[in-house]
Amino acid sequence: MIDGMSLHRSLTDPSLQSINFLNEVVARYPEAISFAPGAPFEEFFDEVSIEDCINRYSVHTAEKVGISFLAARRRLFQYGPSQGLIGDLIAKSLRSDFTMDIDASSIVVTVGCQEAMFLVLRALFSSTRDVLAVVEPCFPGILGAAKLLDIEVVGLEEREGSFDRRQLDRLCDHARARGKRVRALYVAPDYSNPTGSILSEEARLELLEAAGAEDFFLLEDNAYGFTADPTEARPTLKALDQDRRVIYLGTFAKIGFPGARVGFAVADQMTSTRGGGEIPLAKELAAIKSMLTVNTSPICQAVIGGLLLQHNCSLASLARKKSLFYRSNLKALLEALDRKFGTLAQLGKVSWNAPAGGFFVRLRLPVSADEALLDLSARQYGVLWTPMRIFYCSAESCPEIRLSCSNLTEALISEGVTRLAKFVQGLPGV
Ligand SMILES: Cc1ncc(COP(=O)(O)O)c(C=O)c1O
Repeated sequence: MIDGMSLHRSLTDPSLQSINFLNEVVARYPEAISFAPGAPFEEFFDEVSIEDCINRYSVHTAEKVGISFLAARRRLFQYGPSQGLIGDLIAKSLRSDFTMDIDASSIVVTVGCQEAMFLVLRALFSSTRDVLAVVEPCFPGILGAAKLLDIEVVGLEEREGSFDRRQLDRLCDHARARGKRVRALYVAPDYSNPTGSILSEEARLELLEAAGAEDFFLLEDNAYGFTADPTEARPTLKALDQDRRVIYLGTFAKIGFPGARVGFAVADQMTSTRGGGEIPLAKELAAIKSMLTVNTSPICQAVIGGLLLQHNCSLASLARKKSLFYRSNLKALLEALDRKFGTLAQLGKVSWNAPAGGFFVRLRLPVSADEALLDLSARQYGVLWTPMRIFYCSAESCPEIRLSCSNLTEALISEGVTRLAKFVQGLPGV
């Protein structure tokens, strides 16, 4: 038998165990109404023809490279370049949808955004001096990737629409005093996971200024930006970045479908080479990737490439349609919370936020929300949610839960909140 303690310490870390536990609970109670996973709405998948996408992409490649359709199609069955095949199409869509002027050579196509996080951390964090700061609560994937790489993580508290500049300065000072440095700050400025909060344009500019003053990189995760009301969309950090401080992490998981496992990193920072030349950081990320996943499946890239081509390399129309659905679900969830929890809220027993986009709402309970409580909620009340503790770098206990409304109908949201209210009414202290 292998001594579990002899394995990498991330494996005994409670946060990695929590994710396993969550997956198990969801599988154990298939009948429960689940506010747990941040999964896109499944009926959208029925509109996608994978075969049409692959054919469209193959026709495009055949024309672009000057080869036959069959030869273009055959390429998809082969190994491919580590940096990816569809960087040019992604660059076009970033220009159309986010006015980001990015050269395809600065893009590396990855196995989901998760791999992009891993590659970026591996490249930037070169010694134990380097500390990762995260605006928290945050996506556990970045915390997990840092743990696998033995990177120290410190949290910067999220403030509604902003962040505390003095706290950020203190984090940097504290790192310096310990002989360390904040190398990068991870932030999801648009409808973050798990709170659905959004950074004001002013706060974005201040973050860029702070990154320059303290000399760190910003890792911008934009998985949910597409859910914005188009009249309220704000410029991405990368679009505002004059100084190449921002590494942008993208995914087609939410606007497209997660099963494709296609994401990307935009890393246009220039790095010096041994021979005295310079190359974009994206090429270094591709070198790491060549030893990790070799290349993102060409078949999956062709599916996403075909989707981009179908929409003329702008996903704005797709975003408009899907964001209407998600915002309508969010409204249904907030209305149901008002209906079912209004009295408890007046008594100060519960509270929740009211995001304008994204997939999530954060609900504060009168007791700590842990795995045992989730198990009870699923078993006795038939409703699942996510304990907020897993979104912090070191929260021992936390009285909050995340409710996701993305993969539910309005009827299920209403019934789910009714069950949730019964569950909360049964808690001690309510
Ligand atoms: C904020 C955020 N970033 C990244 C990801 C992961 O994206 P991918 O499925 O492309 O790895 C998720 C998935 O839920 C997410 O919520």
